[in-house]
Amino acid sequence: MLVLGSGAREHALAWKIASSRRLSRLYSLPGNPGLSELGELLPGDPEDIEAVAATAARLGIDLTVVGPEGPLVKGIADGFRRRGLRLFGPTAAAARLEGSKIFSRRLLARLGVPGPAYAVFDDPAAAFVYVERHGRPVAVKADGLAAGKGVLIAREVEAARAAVTCCMVDQVHGAAGSRVVIEELLSGEEVSALALVDGRRAWQLPSARDYKRVGDGDQGPNTGGMGACSPWPAYTPELAVQVQTAVFDPVVRAMDQEGATFQGVLYAGLMLTPDGPKVLEFNVRLGDPEAQVILPRLEGDFLDLLEAALDGRLDQVNLAVRPGACVSVVLASPGYPGAYPRGLPITGVDRAAALPGVMIFQGGTARDPDGRLVTAGGRVLAVTALGDTLDGAAALAYEAAAHIAFPGMQFRRDIAGPVAGERS
Ligand code: AMP
Ligand code: GLY
Repeated sequence: MLVLGSGAREHALAWKIASSRRLSRLYSLPGNPGLSELGELLPGDPEDIEAVAATAARLGIDLTVVGPEGPLVKGIADGFRRRGLRLFGPTAAAARLEGSKIFSRRLLARLGVPGPAYAVFDDPAAAFVYVERHGRPVAVKADGLAAGKGVLIAREVEAARAAVTCCMVDQVHGAAGSRVVIEELLSGEEVSALALVDGRRAWQLPSARDYKRVGDGDQGPNTGGMGACSPWPAYTPELAVQVQTAVFDPVVRAMDQEGATFQGVLYAGLMLTPDGPKVLEFNVRLGDPEAQVILPRLEGDFLDLLEAALDGRLDQVNLAVRPGACVSVVLASPGYPGAYPRGLPITGVDRAAALPGVMIFQGGTARDPDGRLVTAGGRVLAVTALGDTLDGAAALAYEAAAHIAFPGMQFRRDIAGPVAGERS
């Protein structure tokens, strides 16, 4: 098996795959020091589709699993398929659900899937006129991939104008921002609903919550995610059924009917509004840090699940979920999500990992020339713990985090707790 990517999500994915009785050998590309403990690291860029496919063919890889969205949106599933290689993840046509916010908004509107009111612009002048007239709070979104930075929330007209300027005039995201979607700003509680999709069916995974802002009480700038927990109690079984019939089923059916059959993980970012759940966005892969709290809760052989999704027979497998909860606290570099130093020595990982029920998933780490573990990214470690309850899992994750140190280490103290000001 080959896992593509180098973050804590990919470490969690490889850790789950490594628990399969059916695995003989695991590689990751490019991986990180955590992944190197589970299998061999291969050099390369996951977005270099030709080179990755050639490597997979040479090594006789049976199945490749993709962590990040970039290679999927670029068509790695198509490239692998052309060479007769098996890969878990959607084709480029199906990955438009994440790769183009305009594509997904239009599809949802056509299907009547609940979402915010929105308008699409390819001309900044028209966008300026719209935000002036609209006057209410909006979310301004670059159409294409923008490394998680393509969404700007604007509560006043001035901020909305600035967001349009940033995206369409200054083109800070390049061509990805030459078209924008401007959406009504929704309020309520956010939840991540992820599903395994086999082309025709979507099987929801346990719910999760991502804590996106850098500071406690959801203060400060947005990050890639400072922690997560599963389940998210507000996402009740009744809501899951509602989202299944109102979101996952129609979207998966429509993609199949339109020749863009979706196979992989479909992630719906939802807002639980007073008018019911609404779709904020789709991603076409596991979330980071959601994967770190969802995967430890799955029972049974994970390779059986992946292969069933790949072969269009999810109806023949049982998706069993471990009761209880899982919590992951991200330990981040000083300065993150802004500029941060690299190469800071990390201590205590082994002691933390030795606690029963604790998993330390590595993200931005590296080995220095003497073989010591050092920081190499913004989100350094995802300290993850299982427990009978969210509170129990969180207490254990924080107990584990207390063993770990690096200069300037920062983390949120309120992961798994309520998010201030967002009860719907
Ligand atoms: P996205 O990448 O589309 O999930 O947007 C990033 C974050 O921006 C989401 O997790 C929400 O917190 C927020 N967001 C996006 N769209 C909206 C919206 N229409 N209303 C309110 N918040 C939004
Ligand atoms: N946790 C948000 C994401 O993976 O997109």
